[in-house]
Amino acid sequence: MFDPIAALTEYIRQPSVSTDPAYAVGMEGARRHLVSLLDSMGLGVEVIATAHHPVVLARREGPASWPHVIIYGHYDVQPPDPLNLWTSPPFEPETRGNRIFGRGAADNKGPQLVHIAAAARLIEEHPDLPLRLTFLVEGEEEIGSPSFSGFLSAHHDILAGDMVLLSDTLSPSSRRIAITTGLRGVLALEVELIGPRMDLHSGIHGGAVLNPLQALVDICSSLHDREGRVNIPGFYDDVIPVPDWERQEVMRLGFSIEEYRNLTGVKSIHTVDGISPHEATRFAPTLEFNGIGGGYQGEGSKTIIPHRASAKITCRLVPNQDYETILKRVAATLQERCPAAVEMTIKEGGGGGPYRVVPPGRPDTPTEQSEVLVRAFGAADRAIEQVFGERPLYLREGGSIPVIEELRRVLGMDSLMIGMFTPEDNLHAPDESMDLALYEKGIEVSQRILSQLADTT
Ligand code: BES
Ligand code: MN
Repeated sequence: MFDPIAALTEYIRQPSVSTDPAYAVGMEGARRHLVSLLDSMGLGVEVIATAHHPVVLARREGPASWPHVIIYGHYDVQPPDPLNLWTSPPFEPETRGNRIFGRGAADNKGPQLVHIAAAARLIEEHPDLPLRLTFLVEGEEEIGSPSFSGFLSAHHDILAGDMVLLSDTLSPSSRRIAITTGLRGVLALEVELIGPRMDLHSGIHGGAVLNPLQALVDICSSLHDREGRVNIPGFYDDVIPVPDWERQEVMRLGFSIEEYRNLTGVKSIHTVDGISPHEATRFAPTLEFNGIGGGYQGEGSKTIIPHRASAKITCRLVPNQDYETILKRVAATLQERCPAAVEMTIKEGGGGGPYRVVPPGRPDTPTEQSEVLVRAFGAADRAIEQVFGERPLYLREGGSIPVIEELRRVLGMDSLMIGMFTPEDNLHAPDESMDLALYEKGIEVSQRILSQLADTT
């Protein structure tokens, strides 16, 4: 019998941080745990090497007439630091109240196990279930999935399913569930400015040499206008209007400034044209500084003109914006605004384009949607209403899962995404947790969806 709580606890115990080679053993541990879970379900499991972290692939095969669902997840997690802000150690899962705490509990170990547990229960109850399943669990999501394109091209034959099912997105709360209809794309850049050959005495040279930190903050501060819009020629050119039905879904979500302030700890909200944060984060592209550095950062003061300065920048992109086009526009603007006295280099840090899926029955639903996807959306709507007592909201999200657009572009598959984490879960932050009641109800929802997909009568 598949024990979902034991499976999750053991999974969180594996420190699978993809960005830091020091965690290689944890990555290996997470793969082993997954392999043993999927193997115990009677599936054919493979661990497939890539240029970086291997992919875990498990298949339940069957005749071509059976629907084929690809279930996606990622076994890698974000780094746990700052460690001193955790109530219990990040890789020693602890249950407090109705939540299990640990790095990766919500992003993405718990939500991913929702579908694995659902399939396990279903297969146990109906060993001859007419449904093909492929579990595709990657280990590079948190670092921008650098190997995924190559992996898809190499294995497109076995990954050619009818649709993708996943839970790696947000719901408004553990009682109000969202079906995610879009993701923003993300484009990461690292900009470096080099000034003098080495740090210089600012008394001897100050006034004669352009300080690269000054040049950098000048350039950075030019990238937004006074109203907070991104000030890069052409940045918004390809953004298309959001249909009414999507705005109405966001209205159903409701909004309280007070709640938003409590959640984030900010003094006031800060959006272009004062639109609500729910719309700003879902419908608009952004440019953010994730880190700026250079010069002396230690105790006290040090009178220097630093040798170098650098900034990490990411843009979030919305549907119809093209990754390559925006990359060119941002890079060209940075170069243009760089004074001749310093040398600029720009490194692309990876990412991917935005994604949007229109659920069946909307004014802008495409006519050529896969029949299995259409049934899955219907089944999800009913299952969520039955299990949670309220129909789902249909919302885009501000976060990114670049591989989802890739799966559509390369394999023509759309995704049904069910939000299984909430704003209280502290994703990418200390004290990350997963709500165990949501976990159990999620399994029930997924089981109903999969069972209806198998029922072709
Ligand atoms: N699960 C998140 C994506 C997400 C977050 C979707 C919030 C919806 C709401 C995912 O694991 C993630 O954090 N992705 C990164 C992608 C980046 C590293 C390429 C992100 O969005 O920053
Ligand atoms: Mn995730």
